[in-house]
Amino acid sequence: MIKVSKEYPPDVVALKDISISIDSGEMFFIIGRSGAGKTTLLKLLCSMEAPSSGLIEISGKPINQLKGHHLARLRQRIGVAYQDFKLLIDRTTAENIAISMEVSYKKPQIIRKRVRDLLEQLDLSDKHDTITGELSRGEQQRVTLARAVANSPTMILVDEPTGNLDAATTEKVMTLLNKCHKGGATIVIATHDDSIYRHTSHRVMELQKGRLHGITGGELP
Ligand SMILES: Nc1ncnc2c1ncn2[C@@H]1O[C@H](COP(=O)(O)OP(=O)(O)OP(=O)(O)O)[C@@H](O)[C@H]1O
Ligand SMILES: [Mg+2]
Repeated sequence: MIKVSKEYPPDVVALKDISISIDSGEMFFIIGRSGAGKTTLLKLLCSMEAPSSGLIEISGKPINQLKGHHLARLRQRIGVAYQDFKLLIDRTTAENIAISMEVSYKKPQIIRKRVRDLLEQLDLSDKHDTITGELSRGEQQRVTLARAVANSPTMILVDEPTGNLDAATTEKVMTLLNKCHKGGATIVIATHDDSIYRHTSHRVMELQKGRLHGITGGELP
């Protein structure tokens, strides 16, 4: 991102002059108080929203200029776990998780295995056939994460992945994200939950009222 700003009319400045470079394969945390601009930044990264000014490049290509199937292809390589989940609440857990893999024509038996593996890792095996509208918020949050990572995207954006979870389940979520990271994915996590970044060696960027307050960490282990 080069000098990226996002304004919402009439006068909300959600992000102001943000310049950052996230490496391929990096795990990167975005922190900041409620309203600081974390979700806005993730929405710009997956081109769900367009910046008001500035340039955003992924793999050296300006995403603002991508259109049609180029944009669709980029989006297929990005998995997003939304803060408000965006699950299909009249479909089952398994159906929600399978979607991204079905869109890219994975074989049914591969999809079934991947869904079962993810549910086991997230302690949700007994919810395979439950309509997601009937799940608790913490369960819905984990289904959202499973859907985001299911198709092994090269970039995974997760917005507040542990907000509704107890410590043991939080650890399961982080174990899954760390596994994706070890597999080579670039992971960007927006969070309030200091338990998941307090002891990290990865970079942590703090936003304050839409501005970049500072970046800490990232030292070699
Ligand atoms: N669609 C929108 N229209 C108008 N203002 C918006 C819109 N989306 C976000 N904002 C404003 O932009 C600012 C940043 O919002 P954002 O959702 O990025 O914050 P956040 O850091 O994710 O907060 P939280 O921790 O509560 O999730 C806030 O002041 C918010 O009210
Ligand atoms: Mg947010």
